[in-house]
Amino acid sequence: MTALQSKVNTKVFEIIHAENYEEMSRIAAKRMIGLVKRKPNAVLGLATGSTPEGLYKLLIEDHKENGTSYKGVKTVNLDEYMGLDRNDKNSYFTFMREHLFNHIDVNLDNTNVPNGMATNMEEEAVRYENYIHEIGGVDLQILGIGHNGHIGFNEPGTSFESKTHVIELAERTREANARYFNSMDEVPTHAITMGIQSIMDSEEIILLASGASKAEAIKRLVCGEITEDFPASALRLHSKVTIIADEEALSLI
Ligand code: F6R
Repeated sequence: MTALQSKVNTKVFEIIHAENYEEMSRIAAKRMIGLVKRKPNAVLGLATGSTPEGLYKLLIEDHKENGTSYKGVKTVNLDEYMGLDRNDKNSYFTFMREHLFNHIDVNLDNTNVPNGMATNMEEEAVRYENYIHEIGGVDLQILGIGHNGHIGFNEPGTSFESKTHVIELAERTREANARYFNSMDEVPTHAITMGIQSIMDSEEIILLASGASKAEAIKRLVCGEITEDFPASALRLHSKVTIIADEEALSLI
C-alpha cells in the first residue's frame, strides 16, 4: 500500500445534481453570494475557462440588482499562461477583468492572477504562494475540471504536495484550449498554476462540471482511485468539497 492509498478515506462528495448549465451556475452563484454576505472580507479562489462563465454572469447580475458588494473581498486565480502579455485577449488576467472584475465593485488591487511574464518564474511562483498564505488562505475555491482530470493546470503526474509552480501543458489540454486561439501553434506550451497542495489548503472547494465531455472525468473523480495520474482525485482527501454538475456531466455515475 502506498502512502497515498493509506490516506484514502471513505468520504463521499456532496454532489448537487443540476438540470443544466444554467442551474449549475445558479446554485454556485447562490453559494458564493452567501459567503460574501456572511464574510465581506472573504478570499475567493477563482477559475477561468467556459465552466464558470455563467457563475460570473450571475454574480454581476446580482451585484447590479441587489448590490452585493465585493469591496472587502480579495481574489486569487488558479493559473495563467506563460508568455502571454496580461493584456493579450487570451490571458487569464484579461479573461477575469472582462468576465467579472470590470463589472463588480471589487478593488482591482485586491484581485490576483499569477504573472505569466515574470522574468523569474520560480520567484513568481513562491511570491504567489506566499501571498495566498499572507492573506489568510482561500475561503472558497471554485474549480473546473480538465478531461484528463487536471485542476488548475496541474496535469496528470503532478505531486499532491505541489505548491504554485510552472508546468508544461498536456497536449490534450492545449487541444481543448485551442478553441480560443487562431491556431494550435499559438496555444502556450507552459503555464503557472497553484499546486494541488495550494488548492487543498482552501477552506472549502466547489467543483463545477457541465456537459457530456466531462462525464468520464466526473466518473473517475467520484468512483476511481486516488492517484496523482488523475489530479482531481486529490479532492477526495479534502473534507469540504461540493461537486455541482449537470445531468450530462453526471451521466456515467
Ligand atoms: C482554468 C483552470 C482549468 C479549467 C479546466 C476546464 O483556470 O484552472 O483547470 O477549469 O481546464 O476548462 P473549461 O471550463 O473551459 O472546460
